[in-house]
Amino acid sequence: MKKPRDTAKAVLLGRREALRAAFWGGTGILLGRGLSQSSLPSVVAGDLLVYAGGEKADQPILADQVGLNKALNAFPMDPNTQTVKKDPKTLIVLVRLEPKMLDKNTAKFAAGGFVAYSAICTHQGCPISQLGEVGSRKGKLVCTCHGAVYDPTAGAKVLGGQAKRPLALLPLKLQGQNLVAAGGFIGKVGAD
Ligand code: FES
Repeated sequence: MKKPRDTAKAVLLGRREALRAAFWGGTGILLGRGLSQSSLPSVVAGDLLVYAGGEKADQPILADQVGLNKALNAFPMDPNTQTVKKDPKTLIVLVRLEPKMLDKNTAKFAAGGFVAYSAICTHQGCPISQLGEVGSRKGKLVCTCHGAVYDPTAGAKVLGGQAKRPLALLPLKLQGQNLVAAGGFIGKVGAD
């Protein structure tokens, strides 16, 4: 017979799975378990960042549309074919910060205070889309699944929780108001 503690754990895990499924459902993505790594789309230099969801889904993100200290999800779009690469492996979290907040190394890959990372938590793969707003989490990227905390000003290094690795970093550049990938992800995307 299941112990009450086991049952509670199962319910909790079920909720996390539901949360994850709801998010991916909202972005129109199907999680393809049978896909090989090589068949997955990737971010390459020149890809335009577009909104991953909401009313502006698939539209280019313009720099002046993003407020300071905001984080949002984006996908890369091939500017030649206008194909939006919708896959968990290409989901990006874009953050706008005061440029002076960024450490030296991170600033090299930023553009106008914008920094971008893989949005896939390195603990167990939940998507990240928000900056913490209270207490010690203020200005930090937080994974709500099990509480991993990353520092967007310092290469998304892990500040707390169970994650062991930083989020993969995406170099950026600005072309006018458009946010554009200046290369592919640096570091491993997703959970181990
Ligand atoms: S999946 Fe993000 S903290 Fe566990």
